[in-house]
Amino acid sequence: MKSFVQSELLQSLPKQFFASLVDKVGKVVAQGHDVINLGQGNPDQQTPPHIVEALQKAAANPKYHKYSPFRGYSFLKEAVAAFYQREYGVTVDPEREVAVLFGGKAGLVEIPQCLLNPGDVVLVPDPGYPDYWSGVALARAKMEMMPLYSENGFLPDYRQLDEKVVEKAKLMFLNYPNNPTGAVATDSFFAETVSFAQKHGICVVHDFAYGAIGFDGQKPISFLQTEGAKDVGIEIYTFSKTYNMAGWRIGFAIGNESVITAINLLQDHLYVSLFGAIQEAAAVALLESQQCVTELVALYESRRNAFIGALQEIGWNVSAPAGSFFAWLPVPKGWTSERFADLLLEQAHVVVAPGIGFGEHGEGYVRVGLLTSEERLTEAARRIAKLDLFQQAVKK
Ligand SMILES: Cc1ncc(COP(=O)(O)O)c(C=O)c1O
Repeated sequence: MKSFVQSELLQSLPKQFFASLVDKVGKVVAQGHDVINLGQGNPDQQTPPHIVEALQKAAANPKYHKYSPFRGYSFLKEAVAAFYQREYGVTVDPEREVAVLFGGKAGLVEIPQCLLNPGDVVLVPDPGYPDYWSGVALARAKMEMMPLYSENGFLPDYRQLDEKVVEKAKLMFLNYPNNPTGAVATDSFFAETVSFAQKHGICVVHDFAYGAIGFDGQKPISFLQTEGAKDVGIEIYTFSKTYNMAGWRIGFAIGNESVITAINLLQDHLYVSLFGAIQEAAAVALLESQQCVTELVALYESRRNAFIGALQEIGWNVSAPAGSFFAWLPVPKGWTSERFADLLLEQAHVVVAPGIGFGEHGEGYVRVGLLTSEERLTEAARRIAKLDLFQQAVKK
């Protein structure tokens, strides 16, 4: 059969670093080992029943068997506006300042295509969520990395960026609570971001995927709570993490009207919005009791405490994440993140994601997802504790 050559655009897409990890894990599982997989970001809990029931009921409504309105149902955009008002005290116009997305990922990948021309510069956090890179590649734009260091609380230091790069930048991605580091943003950092963006004419895209997940009684702040934020950017929100709806593929963009208009325009050409019943159930998720969210955050916090506590007990100097469902662990001296992840897989049958997969500045760390039971997490810590090499390296 003839094999057609992929377009230059497809060939320019970043290689999926984590695909090779999946292969390695598959081999160890195939050998019959009991593998504890902490390498992924797929929520393990179910969608709360009242949301599932809303979908079941709505699925029978013939109205939703027709095409949905191109830019989504107004009731969903109104629910989004009510949610932002209630949770963050942020007021938006539901028709002009909200765009319905096929999951957060879709929006993040679309935005560079909406705003950039080939060769335009985008500031991207390093380490960071690799899907930002995909959107930049599809827009044929150029990435410039903003290093995130632990001494700055994994917030970029705008003063350290090359002025020439900053002058050219048109777009910037931020993400707090952060994947992979678990760091959270501060009011002053967001205020600084708004002035930086205003000064340099940069559009800020704040990825708020883990917006609901903050620990120790600290609710993560929305970028839009910062004065002037709507003038310079948008926030991307997803139902995947807050309501365990990763398989449903729904999210929204909220904020600056011109960016929302651009997203809607691109989507007019790509899709005919989402299944109306999903939109109805999503509105239920936003508007009804948030007890399920409170319980979910408590579950992750308890897992975090158990896992981080167990690692600290064995002498591994790790810090507890302030938000998200990830822990970002420094690898022992003398190890690369990939070799250390291989060691954990081969000798402890524990899967972690090597930091290098999130960018050059992810080197020196591995990422753990707190997405399995406390028992399995502490079992993982027990297995790690038994490794001779680990003990020697850590206790040096
Ligand atoms: C930082 C970050 N942003 C966005 C997403 C996208 O989530 P979704 O496409 O499921 O809405 C994820 C998912 O893992 C993520 O970790």
